[in-house]
Order: sequence, then C-alpha cells, then structure tokens
Amino acid sequence: MAKIVEVLPTQKELTERSLTVVLEKMQTAISERGQSTITIAGGGTPKPLYEAIASQSLPWEKIHVFWGDERYVPPDHPDSNQKMARQAWLDQVNFPEENIHPMPTEAGDPAADAEKYEAQLQNFFQVSAGEFPVFDIILLGIGDDGHTASLFPHTEVLKVRDRLVSVGNKDGNPRLTFTAPLINHSRCVLFLVAGAGKQTAVKQIFAPKGDEMSYPARLIQPSGELWWLLDRAAGDEVES
Ligand code: 6PG
Repeated sequence: MAKIVEVLPTQKELTERSLTVVLEKMQTAISERGQSTITIAGGGTPKPLYEAIASQSLPWEKIHVFWGDERYVPPDHPDSNQKMARQAWLDQVNFPEENIHPMPTEAGDPAADAEKYEAQLQNFFQVSAGEFPVFDIILLGIGDDGHTASLFPHTEVLKVRDRLVSVGNKDGNPRLTFTAPLINHSRCVLFLVAGAGKQTAVKQIFAPKGDEMSYPARLIQPSGELWWLLDRAAGDEVES
C-alpha cells in the first residue's frame, strides 16, 4: 500500500487538489481499461469536488458512478447521498443514466437492499460470490467520531469480512454501506477531510497503534493507493 498524506492550507485548495487527483485517476483508468469506476461519499466536504468535476468536459459515457454508503431514505429525500451527488454533479452534465448506480432503498428491508446492491456490483464487475471487485477510485470522508462510509464505531458491520455491502447503524438508524474489505480492494482510496472538528479523530486514525472498533477509518488499508487530503484545520497535527 502506498500512503500519501497532504495537508492543504484551506478547503478551497483541498478541493482543487482532490480534483487534480481524481481527474488523473479517471484518465489512467480510461486509457488502461476503457472506463473509470468511482464511488461517491456523502457529507459536505466532497460537494465542491462534485461541482468542480461537473465543470469539466469529460467522456461521461466512460465513467461509472457508485455510492459507498447511503442513508436509508428515498432518492429524493434531503438526506439522500444520491440526491446530493445528482444535484452537484450528475444533473449538471449530460451524464448517461445507465452509468449511475445508486444504492437501492426501496425494499423496506435494508438487508435485502444491501444484498441487491451486492448482486448489482457482482454483475457489473463480473465477479463471483466471494470475490471482491476493484474500484478505480473510492472517495471517503470521516466523521468527528472516526467513522467512514457508514462504518460507525462499535457496530456489527465492522466485523463483516465476507460481504461487499452490508447494513450500518447510525444511532439506531440503518444505512447501507460498503464493507471494509470491499473498500480495501480498491486501486485508490481518497479521504477528503476538512474542519477542526476532525482533528482528534485524525490523530487517533493516524496513531501507530489504536482500536479499529473505536475509530473505524483505521480499518481502511487498501491494496492500492491510500490518499489523505486534509485541510489545515483538520490536519494540524499531521505530518505530510
Ligand atoms: C455520509 C458519509 C460520511 C461522511 C462523513 C463526513 O453519508 O454521512 O459518507 O461518512 O463522509 O460523515 O461528513 P462531512 O464531509 O459532512 O464532514
């Protein structure tokens, strides 16, 4: 695993740097494999990145968008990660609907929808049960509590090793989430972290020894590249 850590002065520079990295990874994937697969994070930090991607002229038909986690709400709900990414990026350009792969939230049964998304991923990547697909880019954030995707501290989903997608638990509310092993099979994981509220979690996640149940982002150790882009407020105590 190659780990790259950069602390940028402001959130604006964080967004610019993340755009450069994402565009480069997309171009490499397209020239080497004919398409690029990117997984979207929720939260406020990546939104300006999605807007910046939308201002580019890219071969949208070669880009496939997936979600790494989703609140268990309908797609038009204000909390929906899908809705945010559509508004900030996908609806702003001529993005082919068949290249948009949202997490399903219609079954009224999160476990059934997690299984459905897992089957969709296996079908898209042509992998068998028990194998893990390899995404070109997985975007992630962290919460002040050290969670990432919907892998929250001290929840059962942190122990799941044999699934691609499972059900996370945010204060008793179900959320769909990629499992840690799926994220860890990625070619490139890119964390975007901004704001002083994240400082303590960042310190715990970067500590040489620590507890993955308390700080789930510690579970993310991909076989490919691991990028941490932080603004100064979040990464004050990090050496880059
Ligand atoms: C979500 C996320 C989550 C997010 C962090 C950071 O759907 O809530 O995917 O893991 O990335 O909570 O959120 P902010 O960027 O808003 O700080």
